[in-house]
Amino acid sequence: MNKQMKKLLLLLNSTDYKSGTELGVKLGLTRSSVWKLINQIKELGVSIESKTNSGYRFSHPIELLDKKIISKYLSTNNQYLINNMVILEDVSSTNTYLLQEPFNNEKKISICLAEAQNNGRGRLGRNWCSPFGKNLYMSIGCNFTSGVKDISGITLAIAVAVAETLNLYIRSKDIGIKWPNDIYWQNRKLAGILSEIKGEGYSMYRIIVGVGINLSMEQTYSQYISQPWVNLEEIINKTPERNRIAGLVLNQIIENIKIFQKYGLMPFLKSWEKYDIFYGKKVILSTPREIICGINSGIDEHGYLLIKDDQNEIKKFAVGEISMRDAKIK
Ligand code: BTN
Repeated sequence: MNKQMKKLLLLLNSTDYKSGTELGVKLGLTRSSVWKLINQIKELGVSIESKTNSGYRFSHPIELLDKKIISKYLSTNNQYLINNMVILEDVSSTNTYLLQEPFNNEKKISICLAEAQNNGRGRLGRNWCSPFGKNLYMSIGCNFTSGVKDISGITLAIAVAVAETLNLYIRSKDIGIKWPNDIYWQNRKLAGILSEIKGEGYSMYRIIVGVGINLSMEQTYSQYISQPWVNLEEIINKTPERNRIAGLVLNQIIENIKIFQKYGLMPFLKSWEKYDIFYGKKVILSTPREIICGINSGIDEHGYLLIKDDQNEIKKFAVGEISMRDAKIK
C-alpha cells in the first residue's frame, strides 16, 4: 500500500461521506485519480459506498491499528522486552514476515501486526482468511535456548493467554480451547494459533507464534472458510475494539511466554482443564496413522493429549485432530 492510499484510508474512516473533490484537494490529486485509488482500496476487500452528490464513505468504519494505543495495554516491563513492533497494511503473512527477520541473539521479542494478509496461513497447510481491517493478525517472535524443554508446548501456553484474555474482554467463560490450540465459542472457531520454529539444531531457537482472531469479518467470507466460525462482534453484539484487544492479548501472551521460559507448561495445566472444551468428554482423535476413541483426559506437561481408552489405559498423542464423538465439530 502506498502513502496516498494510506492517507485516503484515514480520510475515509468516518461515517460521513467525503466528496471526490474534497478528497482530491486533501491528497493533491484529480478526482479521477481519487476514483482510481478508491478502486485499489476496494481490491483489498474494504467495502466503500458511493452516493451521487455526496461522495464516498466506508460501509463499516474501521478502527485502524495504532501502535500507540496498542502499547497502552502493555505493562512497562513487557514494553521493555519488545525489541520492535511493526504494523503493516498488507503482508503475505505476519508469521512469514518475522521468519524472514535476520536471526539475532537478543533475548528480546519482535511483534508484527497487519491490517490484511494476502497469504495468511493456518495449521495443516490451510489458508487463514485475512481481509483488511476486520480481524486481528499478529505474530510474536522470541528466542529460546535449547535448554528449554518441549518447545512445542509454547503454543498451548499461548492458547491459554488468548482464551483467558478474550473471556475477560467479553466478561464470560464461554470461550474455550480445542487441543492443541484452536479457540472456540459454542462449537465455532473464533481464533487460531500457528507456531513455527527457526534455527532448529542450533543452540538457540526462534519461535514465531501467529495469532488470528476473528473480530468483525462478515458472514460473506464463509465461502473461503471450510469450518464453522464466529467473530467477536457476533458474541458481544457490538464492534470489538481492535487496538485494545490486540494490546490486551499481546500483553498476556508475553506474560505466559515469560512463565513458560522459566517453568515450561506445568503452571498452565490447571487453566488448560478449565478452558479445554472437550475435557472429560468422549472424543475421536484422527492422527496420520490411526483413529482413536476415548475420554479426553487433558494434557501432560509436554502438551501431549491424553486419551483414556476403553481399558482405562491413558495414551499420549503429539499430533492429531480431535472431535466430539457423535458430534459434528471439526
Ligand atoms: C489455525 O489454523 O488455526 C491457525 C491460524 C493462525 C492464523 C494467524 S494470523 C497471524 C499469523 N499469520 C499467519 O499467516 N497465520 C497466523
